[in-house]
Amino acid sequence: MIVLVLGPPGSGKGTRAKMIGQLCHIPVVVMGDILREAVSEGEEMGLRAKEFMDRGELVPDELVISLLENRLRRLDFSRGFVLDGFPRNLRQAEALDQMLRDRGAEIDLVLSVVARDDAIVERLSLRRSCPRCGAVYHLRDKPPRRDEACDECGSRLIQRDDDREEVIRHRIMVYNRETKPILERYMERGKVVEMSGELPIDKIHEELRYILFKKGLIQ
Ligand code: AP5
Repeated sequence: MIVLVLGPPGSGKGTRAKMIGQLCHIPVVVMGDILREAVSEGEEMGLRAKEFMDRGELVPDELVISLLENRLRRLDFSRGFVLDGFPRNLRQAEALDQMLRDRGAEIDLVLSVVARDDAIVERLSLRRSCPRCGAVYHLRDKPPRRDEACDECGSRLIQRDDDREEVIRHRIMVYNRETKPILERYMERGKVVEMSGELPIDKIHEELRYILFKKGLIQ
Protein backbone atom coordinates (compact mmCIF):
# COMPACT_ATOMS: atom_id res chain seq x y z
CA MET A 1 0.00 0.00 0.00
CA ILE A 2 1.46 3.37 -1.04
CA VAL A 3 -0.05 6.58 0.35
CA LEU A 4 1.22 10.08 -0.52
CA VAL A 5 0.45 13.07 1.70
CA LEU A 6 0.63 16.42 -0.11
CA GLY A 7 -0.25 19.89 1.12
CA PRO A 8 1.16 23.33 1.86
CA PRO A 9 3.66 23.78 4.70
CA GLY A 10 2.07 23.50 8.13
CA SER A 11 -1.19 22.03 6.79
CA GLY A 12 -0.58 19.02 9.03
CA LYS A 13 0.96 16.56 6.55
CA GLY A 14 3.39 15.17 9.12
CA THR A 15 0.66 14.77 11.74
CA ARG A 16 -1.55 12.86 9.28
CA ALA A 17 1.25 10.77 7.75
CA LYS A 18 2.15 9.49 11.22
CA MET A 19 -1.48 8.56 11.98
CA ILE A 20 -1.87 6.76 8.61
CA GLY A 21 1.32 4.81 9.35
CA GLN A 22 -0.14 3.71 12.70
CA LEU A 23 -3.58 2.89 11.29
CA CYS A 24 -2.20 0.86 8.37
CA HIS A 25 0.87 -0.54 10.17
CA ILE A 26 3.26 0.71 7.49
CA PRO A 27 6.45 2.81 7.76
CA VAL A 28 6.37 6.57 7.17
CA VAL A 29 9.01 8.21 4.98
CA VAL A 30 9.32 11.95 5.61
CA MET A 31 11.32 13.82 2.95
CA GLY A 32 11.86 16.87 5.18
CA ASP A 33 13.27 14.66 7.97
CA ILE A 34 15.59 12.85 5.54
CA LEU A 35 16.92 16.27 4.49
CA ARG A 36 17.25 17.51 8.09
CA GLU A 37 19.20 14.32 8.94
CA ALA A 38 21.53 14.99 5.99
CA VAL A 39 22.00 18.57 7.27
CA SER A 40 22.80 17.45 10.82
CA GLU A 41 25.40 14.96 9.51
CA GLY A 42 27.23 18.02 8.17
CA GLU A 43 28.24 16.39 4.86
CA GLU A 44 28.54 18.52 1.73
CA MET A 45 25.19 17.27 0.39
CA GLY A 46 23.41 18.33 3.60
CA LEU A 47 25.04 21.75 3.74
CA ARG A 48 23.99 22.37 0.16
CA ALA A 49 20.41 21.37 1.00
CA LYS A 50 20.32 23.67 4.05
CA GLU A 51 20.91 26.78 1.92
CA PHE A 52 17.68 26.06 0.01
CA MET A 53 15.67 24.98 3.06
CA ASP A 54 16.51 28.10 5.06
CA ARG A 55 15.20 30.24 2.19
CA GLY A 56 12.04 28.13 1.82
CA GLU A 57 13.08 26.99 -1.69
CA LEU A 58 12.87 23.44 -2.99
CA VAL A 59 16.14 21.53 -2.69
CA PRO A 60 17.43 20.56 -6.20
CA ASP A 61 15.67 17.52 -7.65
CA GLU A 62 18.76 15.36 -8.22
CA LEU A 63 19.65 15.65 -4.53
CA VAL A 64 16.20 14.81 -3.11
CA ILE A 65 15.61 12.03 -5.64
CA SER A 66 18.91 10.35 -4.79
CA LEU A 67 18.29 10.68 -1.02
CA LEU A 68 14.84 9.13 -1.43
CA GLU A 69 16.17 6.29 -3.59
CA ASN A 70 18.74 5.48 -0.91
CA ARG A 71 16.06 5.45 1.80
CA LEU A 72 13.69 3.25 -0.21
CA ARG A 73 16.50 0.79 -0.90
CA ARG A 74 16.84 0.26 2.86
CA LEU A 75 13.09 0.05 3.48
CA ASP A 76 11.11 -3.17 3.88
CA PHE A 77 8.68 -2.72 0.99
CA SER A 78 6.49 -5.71 1.74
CA ARG A 79 3.54 -3.75 3.21
CA GLY A 80 4.22 -0.41 1.45
CA PHE A 81 4.74 3.00 3.05
CA VAL A 82 3.40 6.51 3.57
CA LEU A 83 5.36 9.26 1.82
CA ASP A 84 5.20 12.77 3.31
CA GLY A 85 6.58 15.71 1.32
CA PHE A 86 7.50 13.99 -1.95
CA PRO A 87 6.91 14.62 -4.84
CA ARG A 88 6.89 18.43 -4.93
CA ASN A 89 7.13 19.03 -8.67
CA LEU A 90 6.59 17.27 -11.98
CA ARG A 91 10.13 15.93 -12.27
CA GLN A 92 9.90 14.35 -8.82
CA ALA A 93 6.47 12.88 -9.63
CA GLU A 94 7.96 11.23 -12.74
CA ALA A 95 10.93 9.93 -10.73
CA LEU A 96 8.57 8.44 -8.14
CA ASP A 97 6.49 6.70 -10.83
CA GLN A 98 9.70 5.13 -12.12
CA MET A 99 10.86 4.03 -8.63
CA LEU A 100 7.48 2.39 -7.99
CA ARG A 101 7.36 0.75 -11.44
CA ASP A 102 10.79 -0.78 -10.77
CA ARG A 103 9.35 -2.37 -7.63
CA GLY A 104 6.03 -3.43 -9.19
CA ALA A 105 4.11 -1.07 -6.88
CA GLU A 106 1.59 1.69 -7.46
CA ILE A 107 0.03 4.59 -5.57
CA ASP A 108 -3.23 3.75 -3.74
CA LEU A 109 -4.12 7.13 -2.28
CA VAL A 110 -2.98 10.76 -2.50
CA LEU A 111 -4.20 12.71 0.52
CA SER A 112 -4.32 16.41 -0.35
CA VAL A 113 -4.45 18.57 2.78
CA VAL A 114 -5.79 22.11 2.35
CA ALA A 115 -5.51 25.07 4.74
CA ARG A 116 -5.74 28.87 4.65
CA ASP A 117 -2.47 30.85 4.53
CA ASP A 118 -3.16 32.70 7.78
CA ALA A 119 -3.93 29.49 9.66
CA ILE A 120 -0.63 28.05 8.39
CA VAL A 121 1.42 31.05 9.52
CA GLU A 122 -0.18 31.07 12.97
CA ARG A 123 0.34 27.35 13.37
CA LEU A 124 3.94 27.15 12.24
CA SER A 125 5.08 30.02 14.41
CA LEU A 126 3.86 27.99 17.44
CA ARG A 127 5.28 24.65 16.28
CA ARG A 128 8.09 23.07 18.28
CA SER A 129 9.76 19.78 17.39
CA CYS A 130 12.08 17.30 19.01
CA PRO A 131 15.49 17.18 17.31
CA ARG A 132 16.06 13.67 18.70
CA CYS A 133 12.89 11.62 18.07
CA GLY A 134 11.01 13.90 15.65
CA ALA A 135 7.87 14.35 17.82
CA VAL A 136 5.92 17.51 16.87
CA TYR A 137 4.05 19.86 19.25
CA HIS A 138 2.01 23.03 19.04
CA LEU A 139 2.46 25.34 22.02
CA ARG A 140 -1.27 26.08 22.25
CA ASP A 141 -3.12 23.12 20.71
CA LYS A 142 -0.79 20.21 21.48
CA PRO A 143 1.61 21.44 24.16
CA PRO A 144 4.27 19.22 25.73
CA ARG A 145 3.54 18.17 29.32
CA ARG A 146 6.73 19.80 30.63
CA ASP A 147 7.81 23.23 29.52
CA GLU A 148 9.48 22.91 26.05
CA ALA A 149 10.69 19.32 26.74
CA CYS A 150 9.74 16.32 24.58
CA ASP A 151 7.12 14.01 26.18
CA GLU A 152 8.64 11.00 24.36
CA CYS A 153 12.36 11.35 25.09
CA GLY A 154 12.82 14.45 27.31
CA SER A 155 15.04 16.36 24.81
CA ARG A 156 14.78 20.13 24.63
CA LEU A 157 12.33 21.15 21.87
CA ILE A 158 13.46 23.46 19.07
CA GLN A 159 11.86 25.87 16.59
CA ARG A 160 12.82 25.12 12.98
CA ASP A 161 14.94 27.74 11.18
CA ASP A 162 12.39 27.89 8.32
CA ASP A 163 9.43 28.60 10.66
CA ARG A 164 9.91 32.41 10.48
CA GLU A 165 6.97 34.29 8.98
CA GLU A 166 8.68 35.57 5.80
CA VAL A 167 10.07 32.09 5.04
CA ILE A 168 6.69 30.44 5.76
CA ARG A 169 4.98 32.78 3.26
CA HIS A 170 7.64 31.99 0.67
CA ARG A 171 7.16 28.22 1.24
CA ILE A 172 3.41 28.66 0.64
CA MET A 173 4.12 30.48 -2.63
CA VAL A 174 6.52 27.72 -3.75
CA TYR A 175 3.85 25.10 -2.93
CA ASN A 176 1.24 26.91 -5.04
CA ARG A 177 3.63 27.32 -7.96
CA GLU A 178 5.43 23.94 -8.00
CA THR A 179 3.44 21.32 -6.11
CA LYS A 180 -0.24 22.14 -6.57
CA PRO A 181 -0.12 21.50 -10.34
CA ILE A 182 0.96 17.88 -9.84
CA LEU A 183 -2.27 17.16 -7.97
CA GLU A 184 -4.01 17.22 -11.37
CA ARG A 185 -1.85 14.33 -12.49
CA TYR A 186 -3.09 12.24 -9.58
CA MET A 187 -6.69 13.47 -9.95
CA GLU A 188 -6.73 12.15 -13.51
CA ARG A 189 -5.80 8.75 -12.08
CA GLY A 190 -8.63 9.00 -9.50
CA LYS A 191 -6.26 8.80 -6.56
CA VAL A 192 -6.86 12.11 -4.75
CA VAL A 193 -8.93 12.61 -1.59
CA GLU A 194 -9.01 16.13 -0.17
CA MET A 195 -8.99 16.74 3.57
CA SER A 196 -9.25 19.95 5.55
CA GLY A 197 -6.07 20.88 7.40
CA GLU A 198 -8.12 22.88 9.88
CA LEU A 199 -10.02 20.15 11.71
CA PRO A 200 -9.44 20.01 15.46
CA ILE A 201 -6.70 17.50 16.24
CA ASP A 202 -9.05 15.00 17.94
CA LYS A 203 -11.22 14.80 14.78
CA ILE A 204 -8.35 14.02 12.40
CA HIS A 205 -7.96 10.41 13.48
CA GLU A 206 -11.67 9.71 12.97
CA GLU A 207 -11.74 11.28 9.51
CA LEU A 208 -8.60 9.47 8.38
CA ARG A 209 -10.04 6.17 9.52
CA TYR A 210 -13.13 6.88 7.38
CA ILE A 211 -11.08 7.83 4.29
CA LEU A 212 -8.84 4.75 4.56
CA PHE A 213 -11.86 2.48 5.12
CA LYS A 214 -13.72 3.92 2.08
CA LYS A 215 -10.62 3.31 -0.05
CA GLY A 216 -10.48 -0.30 1.20
CA LEU A 217 -7.07 0.26 2.81
CA ILE A 218 -8.17 -0.72 6.32
CA GLN A 219 -11.04 -2.79 7.68
P1 AP5 B 1 9.06 19.79 5.22
O1 AP5 B 1 9.73 19.42 6.47
O2 AP5 B 1 8.35 18.75 4.44
O3 AP5 B 1 8.15 21.06 5.51
P2 AP5 B 1 6.76 21.55 4.92
O4 AP5 B 1 6.23 20.90 3.71
O5 AP5 B 1 6.96 22.99 4.82
O6 AP5 B 1 5.76 21.03 5.98
P3 AP5 B 1 5.89 21.17 7.53
O7 AP5 B 1 6.74 20.06 8.08
O8 AP5 B 1 6.29 22.56 7.88
O9 AP5 B 1 4.40 21.02 8.01
P4 AP5 B 1 3.38 19.81 7.98
O10 AP5 B 1 2.39 20.03 6.88
O11 AP5 B 1 4.06 18.47 8.04
O12 AP5 B 1 2.62 20.10 9.34
P5 AP5 B 1 2.75 19.44 10.81
O13 AP5 B 1 2.03 18.14 10.86
O14 AP5 B 1 4.17 19.50 11.30
O15 AP5 B 1 10.11 20.47 4.21
C1 AP5 B 1 11.00 21.48 4.66
C2 AP5 B 1 11.86 21.95 3.51
O16 AP5 B 1 12.64 20.86 3.00
C3 AP5 B 1 11.11 22.50 2.29
O17 AP5 B 1 10.77 23.86 2.43
C4 AP5 B 1 12.18 22.27 1.20
O18 AP5 B 1 13.18 23.26 1.26
C5 AP5 B 1 12.78 20.95 1.60
N1 AP5 B 1 12.11 19.80 0.96
C6 AP5 B 1 11.35 18.85 1.58
N2 AP5 B 1 10.89 17.96 0.68
C7 AP5 B 1 11.37 18.35 -0.53
C8 AP5 B 1 11.24 17.84 -1.86
N3 AP5 B 1 10.49 16.75 -2.15
N4 AP5 B 1 11.86 18.51 -2.86
C9 AP5 B 1 12.63 19.60 -2.61
N5 AP5 B 1 12.78 20.13 -1.39
C10 AP5 B 1 12.17 19.51 -0.35
O19 AP5 B 1 1.86 20.51 11.62
C11 AP5 B 1 2.30 21.84 11.78
C12 AP5 B 1 1.97 22.31 13.21
O20 AP5 B 1 0.57 22.40 13.38
C13 AP5 B 1 2.46 21.37 14.32
O21 AP5 B 1 2.83 22.17 15.41
C14 AP5 B 1 1.21 20.52 14.65
O22 AP5 B 1 1.23 20.06 15.99
C15 AP5 B 1 0.10 21.56 14.43
N6 AP5 B 1 -1.13 20.99 13.95
C16 AP5 B 1 -1.29 20.07 12.97
N7 AP5 B 1 -2.58 19.83 12.74
C17 AP5 B 1 -3.25 20.65 13.61
C18 AP5 B 1 -4.63 20.90 13.86
N8 AP5 B 1 -5.57 20.26 13.19
N9 AP5 B 1 -4.97 21.84 14.77
C19 AP5 B 1 -4.03 22.50 15.45
N10 AP5 B 1 -2.70 22.31 15.28
C20 AP5 B 1 -2.32 21.40 14.36
